[in-house]
Amino acid sequence: MSKDISVGLIGFGTIGAGVVKLLRENDELIRKRLGTGLVIKKIADIDIDTPRPVMVEREKLTTDVDEILNDPEISIVVELVGGYTHAKTFVLEAIRNGKHVVTANKALLATYGNEIFSVAEDKKVNIGFEASVGGTIPFIKTLKESLAGNNIESIFGIMNGTCNYILTKMSRDGMDFDSALKDAQDLGFAEADPTYDIEAVDTAHKLAITLSLSHGKRVILDNLYREGISGITQQDIEFAKELGYTIKLLAISIRRGDTIEARIHPTMIPFDHILASVSGNFNAFHLIGDASGSVFLYGQGAGMMPTASAVVGDLIDISRDIMAGICMRVPLRSYRENQIEDIDLLGMDDVTTNYYFRFSAVDRPGVLSAISGILGTHDISISSVIQKERKLNKDAVPVVITTYQAREKDVQMALEEIDRLEIVLGKTMLIRIEDDRLR
Ligand code: HSE
Repeated sequence: MSKDISVGLIGFGTIGAGVVKLLRENDELIRKRLGTGLVIKKIADIDIDTPRPVMVEREKLTTDVDEILNDPEISIVVELVGGYTHAKTFVLEAIRNGKHVVTANKALLATYGNEIFSVAEDKKVNIGFEASVGGTIPFIKTLKESLAGNNIESIFGIMNGTCNYILTKMSRDGMDFDSALKDAQDLGFAEADPTYDIEAVDTAHKLAITLSLSHGKRVILDNLYREGISGITQQDIEFAKELGYTIKLLAISIRRGDTIEARIHPTMIPFDHILASVSGNFNAFHLIGDASGSVFLYGQGAGMMPTASAVVGDLIDISRDIMAGICMRVPLRSYRENQIEDIDLLGMDDVTTNYYFRFSAVDRPGVLSAISGILGTHDISISSVIQKERKLNKDAVPVVITTYQAREKDVQMALEEIDRLEIVLGKTMLIRIEDDRLR
């Protein structure tokens, strides 16, 4: 057996404790698979006094991160601090000191990835970030290695467990949005700031990382179309069911020649599509490669041990390279760094899909023809109509219309016109439907 590989851990929160636990409990197994041991030499955190779910010898704990960053014996630094500022400094310092890095920090990589990967490439060190997208799911490895021979035609991903949990609770238990969110927070998988989850910022981070691996593209986060789930009501969930759909927050990427269509929004999908069966806080990815066809990946997107599993997988991967005396056998982001280009993103106006509209209209003769007339003039063809309640000339009733494929720009212009009608009493709800592409 060779000399153990020393690891420094920065950030001793839930995931950090999971990593310590897993390395300890599966030490023998890891030695058999790796041919040496992976040993945590030092753990840095601003709080080293609060008891953790694992016991650690006091001398391994420090509040001084430099004890890790400047220790020549430490080969790999695991960054589990989260956030941007300190994490960025620690990661860059570790790389500059010739250390490999493993991180679960999607916000950091989505925002500063280009700088971080470029410095890592120069310094010939590896960055493992499997845990940053899809938690325990081997999604990054699938893109970087297993599907490396494919053009990735499309990815439909449920990348945020909190949103999926909330939508599942609303759909299965009839819960309202706020109670379902509170539940998710109590269970501990929501981000510290829940707006990151529910307004799809977290999913945007994950989609940005995905696009660099699936298409070798650099993305400016603000250019990704992003819509969260906070506007979804119980009424929409019920109408979706009636129409044969389930509502999911999807991250979507579709290859259109050299242009990429990428967007994140609540989406109605056929209830019998495999993604519709992904419930609770699970994550899943439906990918299509030009050679592979459909590939489906499913698992826990967060949590102490599932995330630790991805981190330890990266540690083993990097250690295997260290032991073989090689580095970056697999390029950091699947493409050679000098081949990664700025993305040519299809503008949202030009996206074409099916739509669900819920109008709040007065119940009076001619309402439907006024609405459908405007849709028609904007080249939007109706596929189905539902109107059930009757409240003659008083309050608004919901009128639901679904469409065949229409262009987003036409849809936005039509809704602007419809919402100005005096028979329409509130802002129209729009939910995009992915039907044809998922059949
Ligand atoms: N808040 C994230 C989620 C955690 O709910 O999926 C994992 O990134």
